[in-house]
Amino acid sequence: MGSFKGRHIISLRDMSVDDLGTIVEATARVKSGGAADMLRGSTVAVMFFEPSTRTRLSFESAILQSGGRVFGFASPGASSQSKGESFADTIRTVTGYCDAMVIRHPVEGAARLASELATVPVINAGDGANQHPTQTFLDLFTMEEEFGRLDGLKIGMMGDLKYGRTVHSLAMAMAHFGARMTFISPPNLRMPDSAKAELLARGIGFTEVQQPEEAGVDLDVLYITRIQKERFGDPQEYESVAHCYRLTCETVRALGGSVRIMHPLPRVDEIAEEVDTLPNAIYFRQAHNGVPTRQALLGLVTGGLE
Ligand code: NCD
Repeated sequence: MGSFKGRHIISLRDMSVDDLGTIVEATARVKSGGAADMLRGSTVAVMFFEPSTRTRLSFESAILQSGGRVFGFASPGASSQSKGESFADTIRTVTGYCDAMVIRHPVEGAARLASELATVPVINAGDGANQHPTQTFLDLFTMEEEFGRLDGLKIGMMGDLKYGRTVHSLAMAMAHFGARMTFISPPNLRMPDSAKAELLARGIGFTEVQQPEEAGVDLDVLYITRIQKERFGDPQEYESVAHCYRLTCETVRALGGSVRIMHPLPRVDEIAEEVDTLPNAIYFRQAHNGVPTRQALLGLVTGGLE
C-alpha cells in the first residue's frame, strides 16, 4: 500500500491488478467507517477546466468528510487562463499551494503533462476523450459490492464508446479481471482501434454489436454511456446518433431481467426514468460510491491512509 504515497493517478495503463485491488479494499474500509480523518492537515486543489457535477462535488465532499481542506475552481473562466495564462504555468503555480491536485481538462494528455510539472500527486479527473480513472475505481468498487467479486464478469458497454473516457478506462481495468466484454454502439461510435488492439494484445477477446438485445441474456452488467455531444467535430454527425439508445424496462426484461444497469451519469435520454425503480438500476448508488472511493484514493496518495 505504501506504493501509493506520492503517486500520480493518470491512466489505467499505469495500474496493476494489485493496485486496483488496493483501491477497492481501501474504499471498503472507508465506507464501513474504518478510516476517518485521513486528510487532516492536507490541502487539495480541485481544478476543473470542464463542467462536472458528480466528479467535482464528490471529490470536494470526500476531502471535507476526511478532514482535509479544499480549494479550486469549477470552470476555466474563473482562473487566469481567461487572461491568457498557459495551463503549464497554472500547474507550476498551484503545485506550491497544495498537497495534491485533482484536474479535469478537455485536452487528452493534460493530466499527464500536469504530473510532469507538479511536485505533488496529480489525480486525473478526466482528460478529454482519453481516461477517467477515478470513475473506473468507483465502478469497480460498485461491482465488487454487487457481486462479491470482479473476476470473470460479463459486461456490456453501450453508447458512445468512441469518445466516452469512462469506458476506455473501464475496459482496460476489466481486462485485468478476465471480463467477457460486449461493446454495443452505432458503427461510427465503436471502441477506438487503439483500445481494441491493447485488449487483444493482452489476450482479451470481445464482441461488437449494435443493439443491446444482441448481447444475449446472461450479462451481469450493462454499462451505459451518454453520447458525448461536446466531443463531436460535426453537429450533423452528433444528430445522426443523438437518440440512438433508450433503455426501457422492456429492454431490461429482454436482457434476462437481472442485469445490473450502471451509468457514470449524467444521462440525457439513454435510460428511461421508469428503469430507475428497478432494483437492478444501480447508477445512483454507483454515483454515491464516488465519495468513499475518492476518500480512499486521496488517503492513499497523500499517505494519510495506510
Ligand atoms: C462522465 C465524464 O465526465 O466523462 N461523467 C462523470 O464523470 N461521471 C461521463 C459523461 O460526461 O458522460
